[in-house]
Amino acid sequence: MSDSIIPHSRPTLTDAGSKAVSSVIESGQIAQGPVVREFEKRFSDCIGRKEAAATNSGTAALHLALLALGVKEKDEVIIPSFVCTAVLNAVLYTRATPVVVDVDPETYNISVEAAKRAVTGQTRAIVVPHMFGCPAGIKELSGLGIPMIEDCAQAVGANYEGQKVGRFGILSVYSFYATKVLTTGEGGMVVSDSEELVSKVKDLREYDNKDDFAVRFNSKMTDIQAALGLNQLSRLEKFLEKRREIASLYFREFKECDFALPVQKDGREHIYYRFVVKTQDNASSPLEKCQQKKVMCQRPVHIPLHVCLELSGFPHTTEAWQRTVSIPLYPSLTQEEIEKIIAVVKEIF
Ligand SMILES: Cc1ncc(COP(=O)(O)O)c(C=O)c1O
Repeated sequence: MSDSIIPHSRPTLTDAGSKAVSSVIESGQIAQGPVVREFEKRFSDCIGRKEAAATNSGTAALHLALLALGVKEKDEVIIPSFVCTAVLNAVLYTRATPVVVDVDPETYNISVEAAKRAVTGQTRAIVVPHMFGCPAGIKELSGLGIPMIEDCAQAVGANYEGQKVGRFGILSVYSFYATKVLTTGEGGMVVSDSEELVSKVKDLREYDNKDDFAVRFNSKMTDIQAALGLNQLSRLEKFLEKRREIASLYFREFKECDFALPVQKDGREHIYYRFVVKTQDNASSPLEKCQQKKVMCQRPVHIPLHVCLELSGFPHTTEAWQRTVSIPLYPSLTQEEIEKIIAVVKEIF
């Protein structure tokens, strides 16, 4: 058995992806152009939305989606605490006030009850990430009557009651960072059925050749990135199949382990972007032991947002932060690596 470390995450790349990137470079048209437009079209068709705008990151996608909705200073935006700081940053870029709420202790998605309690006359939007690939409670959250941005950074291809996530938000955003479900190295996408909102995003993502002046950004994706994106998108079903296959193996093999397995909810089809288990006590010691055995498990969220903002009273997020462990699960794992992960996890837990 190989003795090298098994990383927590790794992209799934092939020669066909490299060739697609090379052919864009050889064409000499490397900035945002026809390949980005093709990627936008194929991606929106795949999700089932009318319009799409590619960006250079998921953070930029969320930032521009908030601006397109008109979010500004003194507005409030509801976000969950148990998510990466990109979500908090995007809200702060708009100068709106982030209203951070606790999460559901089973799915780690935004708590519907906590979100309801956070609504005020100033609430302008709610950002709903589908954490670790598990769809959030979209129906209940839609019932709040607040413009909802679905954050599908971790959930491309997940289904909620038979429909792809990303179909429900007034705008939905994606990330194509190196280790996401699909990658363009760095990158993002905004999708919507509203031509007006997506036109706003497209206007805001580039500053040049405008007849009027307004503060705009440079948040464009390049044709080089989009070429890889198109190649990755054509492999999405295979990626998801492989994720499901490894997840069902983990469910079988980890039955006797001393942790709680991911919760499976009716009507919510998880894609296992992350395989997150909850330990009995603080996860520090088992995480260290996994590392010693060269299997890189990780806390799935580095630092919750209520901790960043020095807020108290987030019991479910605090527990999740202390006790959750993400076990490596991605399509490029070899059979040998999967077997090593299973053996090490069973030994430690
Ligand atoms: C839920 C969520 N939203 C937004 C982002 C930000 O995406 P990016 O890293 O492409 O800016 C991430 C990235 O990890 C994420 O997980």
